Amino acid sequence: MSFPKRTHTCGELRTEHVGSRVVLCGWVHAHRTFGGVTFIDLRDRYGITQIVVKEDSPEHVRQIAERTLRIEYVVAVEGTVRQRENPNPRIPTGQIEVLAEQITILAESELPPFEILEHPDKPRPSEELRLRYRYLDLRRPSLQHNFLVRNAVYQIAHRYFAEHGFIEIETPILMKSTPEGARDFLVPSRIHKGKFYALPQSPQLYKQILMVAGFDRYMQIAKCFRDEDLRADRQPEFTQIDVEMSFITRDDIFELIEGFTARVWSEILGIEVERPFPRFSWQEALSRFGSDKPDLRFGLELTNITHIAANSSFEVFRSTASQPGGTIAALVAPGGSQLSRKQLEELTELAKKHGARGLAWIKWSDGTVQSPIAKHLGESIIEQIRAATGAHDGDAALIVADEWERCMTVLGALRTEMGRRLQLTDNARFRFAWIVDFPLLEWDHAEQRYIARHHPFTAPVEEDIPLLDTEPLRVRAQAYDLVCNGHEIGGGSIRIHRPALQERMLTLLGFSLEEAHRRFGFLLEALRYGAPPHGGIALGFDRWIMLLTDTDNIRDVIAFPKTTSGLSLMDGAPSEVSPEQLAELGITLACK
Ligand code: AMO
Repeated sequence: MSFPKRTHTCGELRTEHVGSRVVLCGWVHAHRTFGGVTFIDLRDRYGITQIVVKEDSPEHVRQIAERTLRIEYVVAVEGTVRQRENPNPRIPTGQIEVLAEQITILAESELPPFEILEHPDKPRPSEELRLRYRYLDLRRPSLQHNFLVRNAVYQIAHRYFAEHGFIEIETPILMKSTPEGARDFLVPSRIHKGKFYALPQSPQLYKQILMVAGFDRYMQIAKCFRDEDLRADRQPEFTQIDVEMSFITRDDIFELIEGFTARVWSEILGIEVERPFPRFSWQEALSRFGSDKPDLRFGLELTNITHIAANSSFEVFRSTASQPGGTIAALVAPGGSQLSRKQLEELTELAKKHGARGLAWIKWSDGTVQSPIAKHLGESIIEQIRAATGAHDGDAALIVADEWERCMTVLGALRTEMGRRLQLTDNARFRFAWIVDFPLLEWDHAEQRYIARHHPFTAPVEEDIPLLDTEPLRVRAQAYDLVCNGHEIGGGSIRIHRPALQERMLTLLGFSLEEAHRRFGFLLEALRYGAPPHGGIALGFDRWIMLLTDTDNIRDVIAFPKTTSGLSLMDGAPSEVSPEQLAELGITLACK
């Protein structure tokens, strides 16, 4: 098909182009005919330009404009730029229009199942429909903006890390199954029947082995795959900016990443972020904010009231306080005395969803106290709680009694909810922080064994190593997370580089030596051949773009995302495969 060559984009023409002959190509965004004059809004990813076809335009052009054109047809328009009689100050091309002399239809379009036109007053079509027709959804300027930002951050990342001496190396997508914490996606091998590749949960082991190989500074924008339950900020395949360095300390990584963050925020949003980022130990973050990814845009800090509540006659508090690690803590809800019964029920439900057995509350209003447990607590304890939490008249205290970590986590979830309800979460403000000194291990009650909080390759804090034999749960990890506005946007650690310690760690996690070698033998072996001290981090690229584009839905920043149940609605993945394909892989399905 021959068509005239495009001279300008639909976002480009200004008053200085008046009189020029131009060719624009794009989609018919809108069109209307009034008294013999047809106006066409022609759209491409750069903008919208008004095209005019007048009564005295060539007959065949009028025919096409009035009769043939439909929404989303793709056309080439040849014409002359002229000043607009009624300028539209809302768009950059609003001063001009193109008087069409020729219109070539390049492609017709069926009537789209939803309008591309975005209007604040119009309800957005359902996400399911938009994902089914993702190519139409992606035509929307607001969504296109997200991908332009995404692209700009890719470019900054490549430049920034190259400037700092990093080299980009690709690592395999088909690898050995070496779980890092989530479930692996498996790929059956045709040649080696009964054997499987796994898709990488991250390039963790490869990047460490690249350090053993002497590459010193590695970076990759890497796809990662995790078969886990999905959430608003989680996808089964997602992207990391993956980084590893040799002969460094944690502070070198912090400086590098703070510099990168500052560059991105400055170039994309024109915001100068404050550095250095504050650091909180995991213990402090949980005690004060009830989260290892605290939203620091607002205060609402938590208060431990175990020592006060232990003296009450309320059985739940007394028994909790008498357990090792049993904790009673409170969150003050400013203005909370106005919380209705229904709102308190909602908050109780939220607490239970996060594992609490219940939620107690005290309201102070006009000098009176209201609480379902007022009688059990007594005036003196209530007053001590008020003084300790700093609650004022008009406030409420929300109180949880549980094992320390759960107690704080539940209150943290309530804190986030109160922050949202009180509109303390301004998305134009960004509060970054490092969370450090995570515990190395946690006890998995279901599996009755220790599991690594970060991953099994994270080094313990040197002075805590003797505790590995006596009190493993007290060992701190040399791990760190980067957080911003309540999101974990990066995580990393200094690694174990001594093979004996790595073996010890794997056996602590419940692997027999034989099993450890079967699964991770290649790493253990590599560490025996002169491994430099090393460490790194991975930044959750999609979450960065979510923050930069002000969306709370990760699917808005991934071109072809999966639904929360892991489906790709556009192409229908996952799908059944033919019996021949299965036979070739030596696979028989147990479920039909
Ligand atoms: P981690 O598992 O903490 O560390 O992942 C690093 C960052 O990746 C992002 N992230 C996700 N984003 C979207 N969807 C997901 N399912 C998802 N899972 C994680 C988060 C997280 O902070 N190998 C280590 C890094 C290292 O130690 O260097 C790792 O992958 O923002």
